[in-house]
Amino acid sequence: MTQATPLSRKIIIDTDPGQDDAVGILLALASPEVDVLGITAVAGNVPLALTVKNARKVCEVAGRGDVLVFAGCDKPIAKALITAEHVHGKSGLDGIELPEPEMPVQDKHGVDFIIDTLRSEPSGTVTLCPMGPLTNIATAFERAPDVIERVQEIVLMGGAYFEVGNITPAAEFNIYVDPEAADIVFKSGVKLTVMPLDVTHKALVTQERLIPFKDMGHVGAVVIGWMDFFERFDIEKYGSAGGPLHDPTVIAYLIKPDMFSGRFINVAIETQSELTRGMTVADWWGVTDRAPNAMFMGDLDADAFFALLSERIATLQTT
Ligand code: BDR
Ligand code: CA
Repeated sequence: MTQATPLSRKIIIDTDPGQDDAVGILLALASPEVDVLGITAVAGNVPLALTVKNARKVCEVAGRGDVLVFAGCDKPIAKALITAEHVHGKSGLDGIELPEPEMPVQDKHGVDFIIDTLRSEPSGTVTLCPMGPLTNIATAFERAPDVIERVQEIVLMGGAYFEVGNITPAAEFNIYVDPEAADIVFKSGVKLTVMPLDVTHKALVTQERLIPFKDMGHVGAVVIGWMDFFERFDIEKYGSAGGPLHDPTVIAYLIKPDMFSGRFINVAIETQSELTRGMTVADWWGVTDRAPNAMFMGDLDADAFFALLSERIATLQTT
């Protein structure tokens, strides 16, 4: 088990697993630089009941049945839930059969866990790591505005600029599912670091990058099973060499921020237009006088990213 050290950064992972979320969770649980205070599940890739179950399955793959997993919001703030079984499969975690999880779901609602943790930990010491729609985070901010200034940083996967959209021509999935929530978060004033499609579409899972996982016993077989399933969709869609591993970029940034580069710019969320709902309107070229509110990443060192993933996930090897 990876031990948190006094220097570990305290994080809450907010997630809708999803194979790429799952690899992000494994990376966090394998890395002493971060201390996972809890995992809050949200409805997104699949309905909430499945994301809660999947989060627990992933913790058990890592041998970490002690991690606190909470169920959060089961639907977006304003509109009906849109899911992505066409990418992630019926379970949300298709690719390899895993046992039903034995570890418990905590009684507390995920939003209450976020609020209570931000209130009880020293101000400015907890980082939120959303890897799905921003419903839980925005609901916490609406319900308890006092916690907003206590957040150290939000590092999230969502949005796009040059890559524009993946679920619609204009929008990336996480933002599209709950643009009202994203609008609240992007206007919150919290320090924001964003991993958009522009970055994650450079983190391509090629067969070569999966080779190290072949020597990692059960955990390696699980990752390969997930990746083989998940990347089919994107390879077919984009004609690329592999599928993009979106969500682990959030955790990788906390561990090795120098692998990423981007710009501190204004990012606004479109909530009105039927055509472009969920678009992240990113002022990359500084053509407006809107104040910057987000560090919007544009590039990453993909080889270093995959080296980090395989090095860390190898330490979770149990059999
Ligand atoms: C995002 O959408 C989900 O399908 C993935 O898990 C990732 O968080 C990419 O657009
Ligand atoms: Ca996700």
